[in-house]
Amino acid sequence: MSYPVLFSKEVIQKRVKELGEQISKDFHGEELVVIGVLKGSFIYCADLIRELNLPVHLEFMSVSSYEGTESTGNLRVNLDINVDVAGKNVLLVEDIVDTGLTISSLVESFKKKNPKTLKVSSLLYKPARLEHKVEIDYLAFEIEDHFVIGYGLDFNGRFRELPYVGIYNGEV
Ligand code: IMP
Repeated sequence: MSYPVLFSKEVIQKRVKELGEQISKDFHGEELVVIGVLKGSFIYCADLIRELNLPVHLEFMSVSSYEGTESTGNLRVNLDINVDVAGKNVLLVEDIVDTGLTISSLVESFKKKNPKTLKVSSLLYKPARLEHKVEIDYLAFEIEDHFVIGYGLDFNGRFRELPYVGIYNGEV
C-alpha cells in the first residue's frame, strides 16, 4: 500500500540538514536542550539532532492539549522532562502545527520556566487550520489542508514508519 508522496525521504533529508545548519549557526556552539513532543516528532527529532553541530541535551514530552478558558487552552502533561531549563537554550520540536493549540500551550508553559532562549521547530505547518497564533522559528515545510502520515506522523497509530510524508487518502 502506498500513499501520494508529499515530501520524499530525500527531500526531507535535505531540508532537515539545512535547518540543522541554521540552528547550529544561531546557537554558536552553546548547549541546546531539544525537547521532542511525542509521539509524532520522534523521527524528525532524531534526524534533526544528528544535523546539529552543538552540544545537545535531548528530552521528550508527551502532552494532551484541550480547549480551556485560556486562549492557549489547557495542557495535560503525560510525560515530563527531567531537566531544569532555567537559563538554558530550549528548542521545542513538533511534528505538525495544525490548530497550533499544542505548541502555543507548550510555549506559554515553558516561558514560565525562564529559559535563556525559547525556540520552536516544526516539520510541518498547516496555515489553513491555524487557530492559535504561534511563531515557528525553524519550519521545514508549509502544507495545504491535507491529513498527512509518515515520517513519525500517524493515523490512528498507523503509518509512523513510512520514510516519506504522504497524504492519507482513506485506504488502509
Ligand atoms: P494542534 O494542537 O491542533 O496544532 O495539533 C497538533 C497535533 O495533532 C500534532 O502534533 C499531531 O499529532 C496531530 N495532527 C494534526 N494534523 C495532523 C495530520 O495531518 N497528520 C497526523 N497528525 C496530525
